[in-house]
Amino acid sequence: MKERFLMCAPRHFEVAYVINPWMEGNIARGSKPAAAAQWQGLSALLRRYAEVDCIDGEPGVPDLVFTANAGLVLERRVLLAAFRHAERRPEEAYFSRWFSSHGFEVLTLPRGVYFEGAGDALFDRRLPILWMGHGHRTDEAAAAVIARLFDVDVVPLRLVNPRFYHLDTCLCPLEGGALLYYPDAFDRASQDRIAALVPPALRIAVDAADAADFACNAVNCGRHVIMNRASDALAATLSAHGYELHQTGLSEFMKAGGSAKCLTLKLSEPRLSEVPLPV
Ligand code: ARG
Repeated sequence: MKERFLMCAPRHFEVAYVINPWMEGNIARGSKPAAAAQWQGLSALLRRYAEVDCIDGEPGVPDLVFTANAGLVLERRVLLAAFRHAERRPEEAYFSRWFSSHGFEVLTLPRGVYFEGAGDALFDRRLPILWMGHGHRTDEAAAAVIARLFDVDVVPLRLVNPRFYHLDTCLCPLEGGALLYYPDAFDRASQDRIAALVPPALRIAVDAADAADFACNAVNCGRHVIMNRASDALAATLSAHGYELHQTGLSEFMKAGGSAKCLTLKLSEPRLSEVPLPV
């Protein structure tokens, strides 16, 4: 069965405010045609391997293109995001409406708990756990809520570098169990937690230069890994692990602090225990 992803075309995308360091100095500095072309490049690539659904863009919510933040999907339920910044809160209603009209049961967090969806919550592909980033956008308290609602083990990871403010900017679980990540984005205890759970052979640590190119902000679909850009060294490592790398430039979206993974939300998310073992 083909994987399904949610995307949002950048008709209304621009950098209109600053809520992360990447956006600084970039207000009204974008090119709409370039953003449209880059988004087309990503969506065409993803459509080769998966089905892509689209939510309509809306005026006044330029970051709606970053569908990763819409919520956390597991099976036919979604825990809707509760955005930390007022600028993004109006997106919640649009995403909620889209999910309800597409057969998802929409769950919400208790008032006052912030949570930015799959931007900060990623299922591992080998262990039955959910990695959850906190420290910038998502509250640590969201972990207990998610664990209860979805009956999953949540492993909280503290993010310490403001340029890597969402978990998906610095960590990407890959099919087969490898973990692509940028260790310096995490505090010491979180780095140790990762090392305790993921054996060295499955850890693909990227350096500062690849991290700044959003190499960890990758879309993984089967053995395909799609990202903005990778160094030759990282490309070789991914290939040695059996992945097929696709690079597609997303500089316009990096001005807003996002890249490939942020622009997508995986809608087909079965429980790991129900994924058939490869034959
Ligand atoms: N400008 C957006 C923000 O700061 C970018 C979101 C990127 N999304 C992500 N999943 N990392 O919220």
